Amino acid sequence: MEQIEVKLSHSQYPIFVGAGIWPQFGQVLKQFYQGNQIAVISNQTIWRLHGDKLESQLPAEAQKRVFFVPDGEKAKSFEHLQNLYSQLLENRFERGSLVIGFGGGVIGDLAGFVAATFLRGVHFVQYPTTLLAQVDSSIGGKVGINHSMGKNLIGAFKQPLFVFSDAALLQTLPDAEIRCGLGEVIKYGLSLDPELFEYLESHLPQALEKDEGVLNHLIRKSAQIKANIVMQDEKEANLRMVLNFGHTFGHALEADYQFSTLKHGEAVALGMKCALHFARLQGFLNKANYDRGLQLLNRMPIPFDAQQLNRERLVERMTLDKKVKGGKIRLVLIKAIGQHFFHTVEDVSLLKKAFEILEKDY
Ligand SMILES: NC(=O)c1ccc[n+]([C@@H]2O[C@H](COP(=O)([O-])OP(=O)(O)OC[C@H]3O[C@@H](n4cnc5c(N)ncnc54)[C@H](O)[C@@H]3O)[C@@H](O)[C@H]2O)c1
Ligand SMILES: [Zn+2]
Repeated sequence: MEQIEVKLSHSQYPIFVGAGIWPQFGQVLKQFYQGNQIAVISNQTIWRLHGDKLESQLPAEAQKRVFFVPDGEKAKSFEHLQNLYSQLLENRFERGSLVIGFGGGVIGDLAGFVAATFLRGVHFVQYPTTLLAQVDSSIGGKVGINHSMGKNLIGAFKQPLFVFSDAALLQTLPDAEIRCGLGEVIKYGLSLDPELFEYLESHLPQALEKDEGVLNHLIRKSAQIKANIVMQDEKEANLRMVLNFGHTFGHALEADYQFSTLKHGEAVALGMKCALHFARLQGFLNKANYDRGLQLLNRMPIPFDAQQLNRERLVERMTLDKKVKGGKIRLVLIKAIGQHFFHTVEDVSLLKKAFEILEKDY
């Protein structure tokens, strides 16, 4: 089991990473939480597959309850948030209690928001069970729910006591969810870490086949990278923007495909192709680096209907993205593998051209 420290201005916590470490959860928990009220928030899909692994590790003497929310993004709603508060109150959970978010990014975001706000804040543990949650959403403290006017608009920063990422739990993950997590891992490689990128070039097939050792390596590297970024920019003032590489294009695609046929990480993978193409069109990126980036992304099997692509509409969506400041779009681009920079878009017609890359490959 490896330990990565996240050191922030007012707190510090570890991320535990390993393959098959779930039997050590109880010991770790004992070090960080000595209270006696534990609320686990999860969903039935995850609980059916892995609930026993967590349940067997909870202290026998504590008051324990598992609260379920429906599977999927819809759980991040006011309705389910309120239900959870009611259940916690009915079960007399107090200020010293602990909330464990056991699931993917949806559960982590929702459980974290409950922990941040219930009785003005209780203890929190992130136990991520998807690749995306292990490499991305469980690190950084951003928690929250959706509003009818947009995703993630209501939220808080809530740092956990610790994060516990076991690659063994990913064996049951559907392929599309593995691809989603890998989209974010490729993002780290392309924008921040040439070594990680090289590793992906030689290990992508094993990762797609859920090789535990390979996944564990990717989780460890990614957790380290995200932790470094978060440590340097705790409250998302500037540097954290690098995490949006591929996302400005990706968010437009995700929305245009109605958040259904195209999943977030898959949309980000396509968005990164657009970002590479944009950088190439502007002369920021040489052909060798451009080709390497595209070749890796092309090896991701993403079900995507290029026939439906409407480039005018996509550019319109991009200008509506919340990351647009002062009317201008700021993009994260790369000038070489692992070397990002920020760029303000002056010529919007180039954005439209950038989407062409998605038509070429399919
Ligand atoms: N807080 C942040 O910084 C941050 C960053 C990125 C994304 N997010 C949020 O994360 C969410 C997406 O997270 P996600 O991609 O993990 O999706 P998710 O939480 O919906 O999980 C994906 C699916 O996998 C299932 N699942 C979970 N673990 C499983 C396992 N071990 N085996 C089999 N199935 C399993 C879930 O039930 C679900 O159906 C979004 O709401 C997004 O806004 C937050
Ligand atoms: Zn993302």
